Amino acid sequence: MEAISNVHRSLQYDELQSPVSTLLNIFSRISKDVDRALNQQSSYNQRLALKAVVDRLDAQLQNLTRTSNKYAPRFYPIAQSWREIIVNYVEELAKATELRQEIDSPYIIGVPLTLEQEIFSGRNDIGTRIEQLILDRRRPPLLLYGQRRMGKTSLLNNLGKLLPNSIIPLFIDLQGAPSSASNHAGFLYNLARGMITSAKKQSALTLPSLTREDLEKDPFTCFDEWLDKVEEALQDNTALLSLDEFEVLDSAISKGRFDQQDVLGMLRHLIQHRPKFKILIAGSHTIEEYQRWASYLINVQVVHISYLKEDEARQLIECPVKDFTLGYEPDAVERVLQLTRCHPFLVQLLCGEIVALKNEQDPSVRRLATLADVEAAVPEALSHGSLFFADIQNNQVDAAGLAILRFLAAQGEGAVVTINTILQQLPNVSESAFELLLQRELIEEVGEGYRFQVELIRRWFIQ
Ligand SMILES: Nc1ncnc2c1ncn2[C@@H]1O[C@H](COP(=O)(O)OP(=O)(O)OP(=O)(O)O)[C@@H](O)[C@H]1O
Ligand SMILES: [Mg+2]
Repeated sequence: MEAISNVHRSLQYDELQSPVSTLLNIFSRISKDVDRALNQQSSYNQRLALKAVVDRLDAQLQNLTRTSNKYAPRFYPIAQSWREIIVNYVEELAKATELRQEIDSPYIIGVPLTLEQEIFSGRNDIGTRIEQLILDRRRPPLLLYGQRRMGKTSLLNNLGKLLPNSIIPLFIDLQGAPSSASNHAGFLYNLARGMITSAKKQSALTLPSLTREDLEKDPFTCFDEWLDKVEEALQDNTALLSLDEFEVLDSAISKGRFDQQDVLGMLRHLIQHRPKFKILIAGSHTIEEYQRWASYLINVQVVHISYLKEDEARQLIECPVKDFTLGYEPDAVERVLQLTRCHPFLVQLLCGEIVALKNEQDPSVRRLATLADVEAAVPEALSHGSLFFADIQNNQVDAAGLAILRFLAAQGEGAVVTINTILQQLPNVSESAFELLLQRELIEEVGEGYRFQVELIRRWFIQ
């Protein structure tokens, strides 16, 4: 398995002018998928991801028997033996978990949820809102705005499930290839490639191809012509082009890697003159923070993504997947809800720790989580989630904000403190510091005072 997972690092086939490169590409992709699967933390998620790989291999095996590629007979047995190795490994994993009588943890912490993952919960309300805005005749661009780790990328990956079939979601992660490209041709090439891959995956729709060579001469014109062909391929459907991690593109433009007018002009043209396309940008900046975009993204509509609904979070706790074997005492569930405020990442983090903790206990008490278990999992969650919490502390608040958070945290769970008390204690803090904390959804106003929005985050700040 390890060898399979490493193959993609050394396989070079891009430059080969031979039909063999198509086949090598298949193996490289499978290898990448296996690599990703083995990096999943829990045995459950490894198995889930590997089963998907086996399905893909099955499809490829079928193709290999039908294709006229002369190298197919040479590679067929290799694909077959990869399949066997992976299937055996999945079985071994399942047996080992069963033998140890462990609770299979389905929780996924920190990486965006993909389409295959059953644990994606809720968000129907956001799907409905996006759908309505897409139907809006003024065709406003959309901004999916939410705090870090609130589930923006997971939502975009799963939009296909939430929207009607006539809307084709095209998902582009700007953190990946597009913004690291060295010139406009590279950028547009990666953009097109992302759209093609996404259409195939989410909607089984084949978009016309576009090569780098085509783009070199006159990138923007060529891209525009390609979009004409894409519109034809879309027939009566609408494409929703989602650009995730928008701040990465923003900073690439700041650094002068791309020309602001060219790139943003292209987006604006798309918004205004291509009715079959809708644009959605996602990121953790507010629209005010995207200043340079204001004149390009006219009438932008904000879709706010925040905490899960209570019933959605309950499901994530008690029934994250079918056949989940851990039960909760009622007050234990309530406590998870209170501690996390239904923040999707924090629910997964804490519940993942609860499962880990239960697995260390005697099998006779293993299947029921109590209030004491939930409390015992909190320090573990703070420690394993430290990247998330430290990001708040280091990147999202300034010194004054930090002082306010520390002071509030020290007042205890749920404490509401008036602004005057805080200003008396912290003479260097101005009222504007509160604005930032409110905007970051870290604190909220209650009557005359403020308190933490999420108890787990407060716990971090008393440490
Ligand atoms: N709908 C959901 N159901 C269950 N869990 C979710 C859901 N959305 C997000 N999560 C959890 O939150 C984590 C973070 O999700 P995701 O990466 O999509 O957030 P994000 O807003 O894109 O984060 P970032 O700001 O870092 O880009 C996931 O790993 C998963 O544990
Ligand atoms: Mg994201």
